[in-house]
Amino acid sequence: MSYLAIDGLSAAYGRQPVLTDVTLGVEKGEVVSLIGPSGSGKSTLLRVLVGLLAPAAGSVAIGGEQVDYRDRRSLRAARDRFAIVFQQYNLFQNMTALRNVTIAPTIVKKRTQTEVEAEARALLVKVGLGEKFTSYPDELSGGQQQRVAIARALALRPDILLLDEITSALDPELVNEVLDTIRLLAQDGMTMIIVSHEMAFVREVASKVVFMDQGRIIETGPPARIFDAPETPRLKEFTAKILRHR
Ligand SMILES: Nc1ncnc2c1ncn2[C@@H]1O[C@H](COP(=O)(O)OP(=O)(O)OP(=O)(O)O)[C@@H](O)[C@H]1O
Ligand SMILES: [Mg+2]
Repeated sequence: MSYLAIDGLSAAYGRQPVLTDVTLGVEKGEVVSLIGPSGSGKSTLLRVLVGLLAPAAGSVAIGGEQVDYRDRRSLRAARDRFAIVFQQYNLFQNMTALRNVTIAPTIVKKRTQTEVEAEARALLVKVGLGEKFTSYPDELSGGQQQRVAIARALALRPDILLLDEITSALDPELVNEVLDTIRLLAQDGMTMIIVSHEMAFVREVASKVVFMDQGRIIETGPPARIFDAPETPRLKEFTAKILRHR
């Protein structure tokens, strides 16, 4: 069984199905990338994993432990295993970079300030912000703020990091510094599920690419196979469209 085992997962917003029979395995240390047209259910899949939307059917297991999304304790345990970073980084504007990183671990996780702060400094150094501990979000570039958001997510010590189009709101010249940070995490063996429109980056960093359309997984495979030898008409159309836009 995979480290993260998603099996036959379905979900709906009201009566509209948005995920249908999604089955996907993610191994420890693996970087899986979700691609697909707008509205195909990529964000929804991440939302279901972290318990923001209850699945209608199917199962999720992490480290061999089944998640029961209707049970509060099981849900809390599952939430502890994931951290998610969104396109909009939503930092606390009235707090320094360091405080943004330490606040959740100290308050929610009730860990000691000294320990959390030492770890937060190390994380900020890691994401290339060793000089910015005391800067406020409005004194940082978009790319720097997004890297604070990554450090903040890592401070929660997740087993699996979920990244939802975290470079999409950035100016092109700031995208690379964020991608560099993700590369570093991948080298460190962080297990990640990455939704991204940066196809060159996906090809480089992902061990497995998952193509979704209309709430279903259409194809899964190594990047070279997915991008160079798509098997289904839908993926062919999608990759052709991407290449035209480059
Ligand atoms: N809160 C919501 N209520 C109702 N429907 C929603 C909601 N959020 C998303 N949807 C619908 O669910 C479907 C999947 O949306 P989702 O956001 O998962 O797509 P996505 O693949 O992440 O797209 P994008 O690339 O544009 O971010 C879409 O049809 C969308 O309209
Ligand atoms: Mg989305």
